[in-house]
Amino acid sequence: MRRGELVTFPTETVYGLAADAADPMAVGRVFEAKGRPRFNPLIAHVADLEAAQAIAHLDERALTLARAFWPGPLTLVAPLKNTTAVCDLARAGLETVALRVPGHPLARALLAQFGRPVVAPSANRSGRPSPTTYADAVEETGDKAGAGLDGGPCTVGLESTVVAVLDGPARLLRPGAVTRAQIEALIGPLAEAEADAKRSPGRMALHYAPDAPVRLNAAGPEAGEAYLAFGPSDDQAFNLSPTGNLAEAAANLFAMLRAADRTRPSAIAIAPIPPEGLGEAINDRLVRAAGHIG
Ligand code: TXA
Ligand code: MG
Repeated sequence: MRRGELVTFPTETVYGLAADAADPMAVGRVFEAKGRPRFNPLIAHVADLEAAQAIAHLDERALTLARAFWPGPLTLVAPLKNTTAVCDLARAGLETVALRVPGHPLARALLAQFGRPVVAPSANRSGRPSPTTYADAVEETGDKAGAGLDGGPCTVGLESTVVAVLDGPARLLRPGAVTRAQIEALIGPLAEAEADAKRSPGRMALHYAPDAPVRLNAAGPEAGEAYLAFGPSDDQAFNLSPTGNLAEAAANLFAMLRAADRTRPSAIAIAPIPPEGLGEAINDRLVRAAGHIG
C-alpha cells in the first residue's frame, strides 16, 4: 500500500479493496479496478475515533454514535477538517468525508500498521453484490490487488450503515447492520435521505445485482428459477435462515445470491423478508439488486 498498490482485506461487513487515502494515484486505481464512477465517493477507514476527529468535524451526535458503535459497522459522513488526509478524488470533490472504524481484527491490524487513513470500497466490481468471502473478493477484483488478506467469511455480510451528520437532522444514507432503531434511540429521529440519492450513489438503481434477474416477495420458485427461502421450508437448495433469523440472513445474503447465480437460473426468486430491524437493510439491498429503485 505504501507503494500505491491495492490490498484485498476483510472487514466485519464485507471484503474491501484498500488503498492509501492520501495518494490520488492509488485511489485512482481503486476506481479503475471497480469500474466505479468517479462521482461516487469512498469511505476512509481509520484506526480509532481520535484519527477520525483529525479528519472531520464530529459534532455531539456524531460523537455519541461513534462512541456507541465504533469499532463496528457504522460510517459517519461529516464536514471535512483536514483536506489532505483523504484526497479529493477519494471524496469525489465533496467538502464532506465518510469515516469508519472497522471491527475486524485483520482490518484493525492493517490500519494500525499502515498508520494512515485507508480508503476501501467493497471489493466487488461496480454494481455487483459485495464479496463476503475471500474467494468472492478475489474473483471480483483480486487481479487488481498487489496483496490480499484472507479473514474468513464476514460475520455481518451487509455493508456498514451510513449516517450523514451535517447541518440539520442526521440522515440515514444507507441502512445497515447498525439499525435505525439503535441510532434513533441515541440521537432521535433520522431524516430520510431520498433527496441525497445522487450524493450517496450506493443508493442508485441496479446495485448489488447478480447476473440473473431478481424477483422479490416470492412464495416459491417458478420453473427455471433458483429460490432463496427464509424461515422453515421443505428442502430448498438455498435458505437465508431456516430459523428466520435476520442476522443470519444478512450474513448469507450476498454469498447465496452468488451461489444461486452460478446455477444459471432464469431468475432468482426471493422469499419475503420482514422489514423490521436488520430487515430494513436486507430489503434495501434486495430492492436494488432487483433494480426497482431509481
Ligand atoms: O461496510 C462498508 O462500508 C464497506 C467496507 C469495505 O468497509 N465499504 C463500502 O464502501 O461499502 P462502498 O464504497 O461500497 O460504499 C460507500 C458508500 C457509498 O454509498 C458512497 O456513496 C457513500 O458511502 N459515501 C462515501 N462518501 C460519502 C460522502 N461524503 N457523502 C455521502 N455519501 C458518501
Ligand atoms: Mg459497495
